Amino acid sequence: MFERLIDIFKKPKEFEYSNSTELWSNPHISKQMLKFHLDPNVDHASRNKIFLDKSINWIIQKFHISSKSKVLDLGCGPGLYTHEFAKTGAKVTGIDVSKNSIEYASKIAEEDNLNIEYINANYLNYDITKKYDLITLIYCDYCVLNPDDRNTLLNKIFSSLEDNGSFVFDVLSTNHFNNIKEKHSCNYSHSYG
Ligand SMILES: C[S@@+](CC[C@H](N)C(=O)[O-])C[C@H]1O[C@@H](n2cnc3c(N)ncnc32)[C@H](O)[C@@H]1O
Repeated sequence: MFERLIDIFKKPKEFEYSNSTELWSNPHISKQMLKFHLDPNVDHASRNKIFLDKSINWIIQKFHISSKSKVLDLGCGPGLYTHEFAKTGAKVTGIDVSKNSIEYASKIAEEDNLNIEYINANYLNYDITKKYDLITLIYCDYCVLNPDDRNTLLNKIFSSLEDNGSFVFDVLSTNHFNNIKEKHSCNYSHSYG
C-alpha cells in the first residue's frame, strides 16, 4: 500500500495529464459539484452570488448584450450566467461536459420560459457551427488547459466569432499563482474501505 501511495504522490510534470473532464462529468462527483455551483456562499465550482451578480451585470453592460446578441458560454455549468444573459432577450447557447449541470440548466430555463440552447459536450472537440457576438469562458477554465488544448480552443473560438465579436475569459494572476502552497493529504474512506 505504501508503495502505491508513493506512486500516487509523485508530482506529475506540468500538464502531464488532465482529468478535468472526468472530474466534471463523473456521475457521482458531478452531483456534489452541482451542489457547490448552487451554493451562493462559496467559490468552489461557481463564484459566490455577490461576485456572480456583479460580473453578470458588468458583462451585459460592457458587451451590450441585448435581443440582437448571440452569446455562447463555454463550460456554462448549471446556467448561472446563460440564464441571466437570456433574460435580455439574447439568443444564448451553453455548452458543458456535465450532463447533470446541463439537465439542471435546461430545467430552470424551461421553468422561466427562456429559450436557451444547451449542449452536453466537451468544448475541445465539439464542432461549433454557428457564429456569436460574444463567447465566454468563465471561472479560470482556460488555466487548466494544456498548451495544445488552449490552441485548439482559441482557434475554435476565433472562427466562431462574428466580425467585431468578443471573447471574455478570466485567468488567475501570476501573483495568485505564486502564493499558492502545494500540499497533499490522505484520508481513509469507509465507503471504499
Ligand atoms: C469552474 S466551473 C465554472 C462554471 C461556470 N462557468 C460558472 O462560472 O458558473 C467549470 C465548468 O466547465 C465545465 N467544463 C470543464 N471542462 C470542460 C470541457 N472540456 N468541455 C465542456 N465543459 C467543460 C465543467 O463541467 C464546469 O461546469
